[in-house]
Amino acid sequence: MSKILTGIQSTGTPHLGNILGAIVPAIKMANESNDESFLFIANMHSLTQIKDEKILNENTFATAATWLAFNLDPHKTCFFRQSDVPEVTELAWYLSCFFSYQRLKLAHSFKDKSQNLKEVNSGLFYYPMLMSADILLYDADIVPVGKDQLQHLEITRDVAIKFNKTMGETFVIPEANIQKNSNYIIGTDGQKMSKSKGNTIDVFLDDNKLRKQIMKIKTNTLSVDEPKNPDDCNVFKLYKLIAGNDDIKVLRKKYEDGGMGYGEAKEILFQEILKRFSDNRKAFFELHQNKEYVEKLLIEGSIKAREISQKVLKRVRTRLGF
Ligand code: TRP
Repeated sequence: MSKILTGIQSTGTPHLGNILGAIVPAIKMANESNDESFLFIANMHSLTQIKDEKILNENTFATAATWLAFNLDPHKTCFFRQSDVPEVTELAWYLSCFFSYQRLKLAHSFKDKSQNLKEVNSGLFYYPMLMSADILLYDADIVPVGKDQLQHLEITRDVAIKFNKTMGETFVIPEANIQKNSNYIIGTDGQKMSKSKGNTIDVFLDDNKLRKQIMKIKTNTLSVDEPKNPDDCNVFKLYKLIAGNDDIKVLRKKYEDGGMGYGEAKEILFQEILKRFSDNRKAFFELHQNKEYVEKLLIEGSIKAREISQKVLKRVRTRLGF
């Protein structure tokens, strides 16, 4: 049995791209597998960017509520908040003493921002050490991440190997499980959906606001009467990700026959989104009414997580003679 662990950045309420591209497949994997799984909200990593208590907490809550609304089973997956396991910062310090400054300087998370060094806090520089601690603290074997995190995983492996070599066998050496680009979801402008591009579809907005986002989807300017090519239409591309096969065929025909304007196609997509995510939206709003319940789940998760983290940290302390 493997131990699978991953961390999620909480930069706001997850959008359709996060949901279809990452959350739904991850939950499917966790619920179907017999492996032990750990999932945590990396709110201490978010502190490198966000310095507002209210926003940090809201983001953490919205992220937790989204995963739960998409049926993450908190009894099967150890689901917790990074900041509830303080052992992680202690381990990060130890690890940093086994990793070279020269190499840490080359980490993308830091390097990409280092043109403007004044804006870079040292937490951002140290980020890969905290992430290594996140992983090594639970003896994780497999870490599912996007391609952009591969370098962090290499750092994690290298620092674990270095520690083991220097102090004796201590850490399990984890492996990355890279998620493919097949999960790339387009936004309202046809480019990859991302919060920073302002092209998201946010399924937890109220109906009116959600409808407005969908009406914003870029299309060409063919008139209502003209037949249209569904395969180069952003509305249809999104519809295909959400609707069932029969409905997809029906809409395809409407495009090809002509007589349907893009406004109508968008309305059909909007209705389909409401339908497909009706249960998840309901669950999300209910969790908002019951924050104590989410809080309780996260605390329970951290208690389970700490049973492991404390054991591993003890092993490390023993090695260090502390
Ligand atoms: N850095 C990861 C990201 O931006 C989030 C993260 C933090 C993480 N700690 C982790 C991912 C540990 C996997 C394992 O997506």
